[in-house]
Amino acid sequence: MKTYLVTGAAGFIGANYLKYILAKHDDIRVVVLDALTYAGNLGTIAKDIDNERCFFVRGDITNQELVDRLFGEYKFDYIVNFAAESHVDRSIENPQLFLMTNILGTQNLLDAARRAWVTGKDEHGYPTWRKGVRFHQVSTDEVYGSLDENGYFTEETPLCPHSPYSASKTGADMIVMAYFDTYKMPVTITRCSNNYGPYHFPEKLIPLIIKNILEGKKLPVYGDGSNVRDWLYVDDHCKAIDMVVNKGTNGEVYNVGGHNEKTNLEIVKLTIATIHKLMSDQPEYRNVLKKKVKNEDGTLSIDWINDDLISFVKDRLGHDQRYAIDPTRISEALGWTPETMFEEGIVKTIEWYLNNQEWVNEVTSGDYQKYYDEMYLKR
Ligand code: NAD
Ligand code: TYD
Repeated sequence: MKTYLVTGAAGFIGANYLKYILAKHDDIRVVVLDALTYAGNLGTIAKDIDNERCFFVRGDITNQELVDRLFGEYKFDYIVNFAAESHVDRSIENPQLFLMTNILGTQNLLDAARRAWVTGKDEHGYPTWRKGVRFHQVSTDEVYGSLDENGYFTEETPLCPHSPYSASKTGADMIVMAYFDTYKMPVTITRCSNNYGPYHFPEKLIPLIIKNILEGKKLPVYGDGSNVRDWLYVDDHCKAIDMVVNKGTNGEVYNVGGHNEKTNLEIVKLTIATIHKLMSDQPEYRNVLKKKVKNEDGTLSIDWINDDLISFVKDRLGHDQRYAIDPTRISEALGWTPETMFEEGIVKTIEWYLNNQEWVNEVTSGDYQKYYDEMYLKR
């Protein structure tokens, strides 16, 4: 039985990954370590941590004493590090927190693993490692910087981050690789493109647009909306991480993406059109609308759900123009392919939000409105 430490699993991708591995492997134990920042929500994983194979610890990945204690208690085989400050706009406002969590937090986990997993020294003085252990770092394609209209990010693309967020993730990747080069630590890294799907916090583009449409609010598109992102359904990302953790090669980086490039404006228009269609086909979904405009016959109108909601706002500072992943390595080495095409994934995602408004209300009940006002009213 393998024991996993999964950090940041009360957040978007970590929660989806936790559900994925608990369903897929019935012979594993998982300890979740999460600080429950604004982005972490225990309700998201309440059912999962009820499972007798899953344990939740509230705590910070930068806390050395706590992480050492957990290693002593649970004898982890795998560490999968999702915990991070993950929002570019917030990193522009407060870079230091990103460096603390994303770089120092990763380094603290690496060191705890080193203390727990090293068994001795080889004839050259390199540490020897317990068999079957691995540290997996969940990284991002943003470490490669920005593309113009041509080409793709491969694993050989030079690291060239622009935002404080992507710079902090690059720092983390480099320290992970430094532990491989210096100590021969068994590590792997995945660099994924933009994810979408259930439990995505509504400060990121797709869930924010869905939330605003339901409330009849303007849809803020940064700049001219021509920036391109390469969208991947979150379960496909979870499948890729599971493959790398179980079958990847130590010291290897794997890019994860599904060749699904769209401009932000395309994403926003598609989201508007999909919500409109779902509410036309299934009128009961209109009950979810917070903006209630009545037709003459007393039914709720959806005529106002159209592209007029779009509002072009001041651009993000240092806004990367285009991300696009070449996933050849993970496809050829591990046989990974995405299963959910965008047309299907976006409908599934929107339906999930329409059916899970309680979750949205719960995660936005704290400081969300203050954040929204500070971030968008000044734009
Ligand atoms: P998220 O912001 O939704 O969740 C982050 C989680 O980490 C939260 O549960 C939060 O409470 C926790 N956390 C934050 N600081 C912590 C700390 N100091 N100690 C312990 N827990 C802490 O993020 P996400 O979108 O799920 O992203 C997860 C990982 O995937 C991140 O490392 C991110 O860089 C990476 N990534 C995200 C995307 C994407 O599209 N969202 C794409 C590629 C890579
Ligand atoms: P985001 O979801 O923040 O992810 P990332 O910055 O990590 O790619 O943003 C995706 C794209 O959408 C990015 O180009 C910025 C843009 N965007 C908007 O146009 N409006 C918004 O309100 C947000 C949050 C993002």
